[in-house]
Amino acid sequence: MFLTEKQQDMLAGKYGEAVAYSMKIQVGMGRIFNATRMVVPGRVHVAMGGCMADYWFANKMLNLGGKCVISPTTNPSMDFCYLNKHLAKIPDDWEDIVRKTNDAYTKLGATMTLSCTPYLQQNVPAFGEILAFSESSATPYVNSVYGARSNRESSQSALCAAITGLVPEYGLLLEENRKAEILVEVQADLNDDFDYQLLGWSYPLKYNGPEIPVFSGIEKRPNPEGFMNFGAQLNTSGAVAMYHIEGITPEAPDLKTALNGKEPKSRVVITNKDFDDVKNKICGEPGKIDFALFGCPHWSLSQIADVCKILNGRKFVVDVWILTSFMTKELAARMGYQKIINEAGGHILADTCVDEPCWWPYYGKTGVSDSPKCMYYDTMRDMKFKLRSLKDSIEAAIAGEVKR
Ligand code: F3S
Repeated sequence: MFLTEKQQDMLAGKYGEAVAYSMKIQVGMGRIFNATRMVVPGRVHVAMGGCMADYWFANKMLNLGGKCVISPTTNPSMDFCYLNKHLAKIPDDWEDIVRKTNDAYTKLGATMTLSCTPYLQQNVPAFGEILAFSESSATPYVNSVYGARSNRESSQSALCAAITGLVPEYGLLLEENRKAEILVEVQADLNDDFDYQLLGWSYPLKYNGPEIPVFSGIEKRPNPEGFMNFGAQLNTSGAVAMYHIEGITPEAPDLKTALNGKEPKSRVVITNKDFDDVKNKICGEPGKIDFALFGCPHWSLSQIADVCKILNGRKFVVDVWILTSFMTKELAARMGYQKIINEAGGHILADTCVDEPCWWPYYGKTGVSDSPKCMYYDTMRDMKFKLRSLKDSIEAAIAGEVKR
């Protein structure tokens, strides 16, 4: 792997121990993936959370004198101040880890957005821009919807990129690796954003390989929430860091371009029956619920506005948590949405992920959500879920049960 003289000096420690340590990791990764050189990313996002491993690595970098030359945005962990007041006291040792991790990242020079949708606000890439993004729901969005270029970084490798200002050039950073090899014919009906959750969950069940898929048969451009849902589920049910949609995503003006003029290696058809199979498998039967949890990925202002419309003056009978970025929460307050949701008995919560131990009061209980990714992570925490569209989930939280 070619390194410039300066990069060799960085590796040798002339620019400090944190830079040398980061370079060692990145050059090692580059060699594994046959990178021939390092390139400069325009943006970095680190999927840190409130856990011991994240704290350990960030603190190690800090103690080695690390400083980010590209300020990364950061993933959510928990807003313990709000949760302590409105849900239940977070045990002191968890709170301590979150405080220390946030403190370490702040000192390293991160931009503390604490949100998993940086591509909507604050860290929005351009077409063709090189990135080092971690966060499984963010990488498909930036690669596919914007046509920016990021591999699926880990939180550690992304922090290394922020410290060195470099990233090894391999995988999805290279034009030749961004072409589709699997043709997916969508024959299922796509009527709302929830159908994109089902489509994203369905595809890896039918083809679970590393190749990039191109979806054909989608007539109408999904809205940002549809794209968010689609990518989040593709990269949870499977490991799809990039996809194309014929005539819609920027690197797929037509099938020939998306497939690089070649025949697809495999063809997949997705029908309404596949959606029904997914619903039968993961969405759960009608029945009582104890809580509702939304915002995996963090909800947009438009989704919060939809809740207010559906509420139409009614109240929730179960706990309702809507997770979003602090920027969207502030906008929701300015727009009057927060007041409406609070008066209905619900909460808008910033800085927090569904996959954190703060949800312990709901362990063993049943909730409703619109997100299979939320169900996937929190099932491991012994929380059970019924999955429905945003509208039906909100209706369930008003009724205290999923009726159909
Ligand atoms: Fe975001 Fe956490 Fe879900 S980072 S996508 S809320 S698992």
